[in-house]
Amino acid sequence: KDTGKGPYPYYMLKEVNEQPNIMRKLTTLYLDAKGKPKIDHKLLDKMNQADRLYIIGAGTSYHAGLVGKNLFEKLVHIPTEVHVSSEFAYADPILSKHPFFIFLTQSGETADSRVVLTNVNKMHYPSLTITNVDHSTLSREADYTLLLHAGPEVSVASTKAYTSQIAVEAVLAKALGEVKGRQIAVDFNLRHQLSLVATGMQSVIDQHAKINQMAKKYFVKSYNAFYLGRGTDFYVALEAALKLKEISYIQAEGFASGELKHGPIALIQKNTPVVGIITQKKTAALSRSNLEETASRGAKTFTIVRRALAKPGDSFILPDVDEMLTPLLSVIPAQLLAYYTSLNKGLNVDQPRNLAKSVTVE
Ligand code: G6P
Repeated sequence: KDTGKGPYPYYMLKEVNEQPNIMRKLTTLYLDAKGKPKIDHKLLDKMNQADRLYIIGAGTSYHAGLVGKNLFEKLVHIPTEVHVSSEFAYADPILSKHPFFIFLTQSGETADSRVVLTNVNKMHYPSLTITNVDHSTLSREADYTLLLHAGPEVSVASTKAYTSQIAVEAVLAKALGEVKGRQIAVDFNLRHQLSLVATGMQSVIDQHAKINQMAKKYFVKSYNAFYLGRGTDFYVALEAALKLKEISYIQAEGFASGELKHGPIALIQKNTPVVGIITQKKTAALSRSNLEETASRGAKTFTIVRRALAKPGDSFILPDVDEMLTPLLSVIPAQLLAYYTSLNKGLNVDQPRNLAKSVTVE
């Protein structure tokens, strides 16, 4: 069901632009008029018996899992581990007594993730696949499936799958938190928050011309680039760097802001681009001072900041949403920065060298 690129020069831009509407669609599909999650009670009963969640994924799906950990631990208060599937498959993990496995996979076909699911099935542990493709292999082989409803994602660099995975994780975390009688889950007005997210995404996308200028100024001529953040901002930094390296071939890395001084800061030279993602109140001041340490060593820094935490001189301001959902907004300028860097370098945005959309070999 390839619907074509429409007016867009590349699928990636089309898919970035689809994200606000996907958020609205997921809201009506997964939340009722009162904001109650519409999730199969059998799935919730199974999850409620678990003492620990294991989220498994590769690439961008792994990064969406990291954001999910924060949602499940806050809203459900259940220990949640996130693993790269190719690592977990051969790691002889020591599992909890009652594990529950969540597979995140856009395609539902990633071989590395399937190996883990096959082992999970052999051991008769319960599992859920969150995927964009109904009847895909990982969907068929898991006990439960939740669909992303994002429409076909054609561009190799994943965008809308990441944000829809996070939105579905948020619904699931709220649902399970409510089953457990967690007040924070009941009070979390996800319906309202997702409508703020949708509007916020659109307002970021509407600033594409500014983001294009930033891509030209900071990235196009750079050999390397770094994204920094703490906590959930660090998880987005990993995804932001992955986007940039995948389609612009710039050596881009995401670092935990606090780890910088333990090694990565040695990489900073005059004009090295360093982006600070700052959306969390608790760590904003620390993140800023870590970013300033790179500036004082010559880095060309810029900030992506949630409005409530913004200071004069910040580069890109994000609309305010609940701190648990800021990745849904902070990733958008990063997606567009990668897009415009690739475009301005004259590269094939949708078909980067050496990469495949779905990798069905280990
Ligand atoms: C490939 C793609 C990535 C994707 C990863 C996992 O490497 O190029 O964009 O994140 O596979 O794919 P999945 O379909 O399992 O989410």
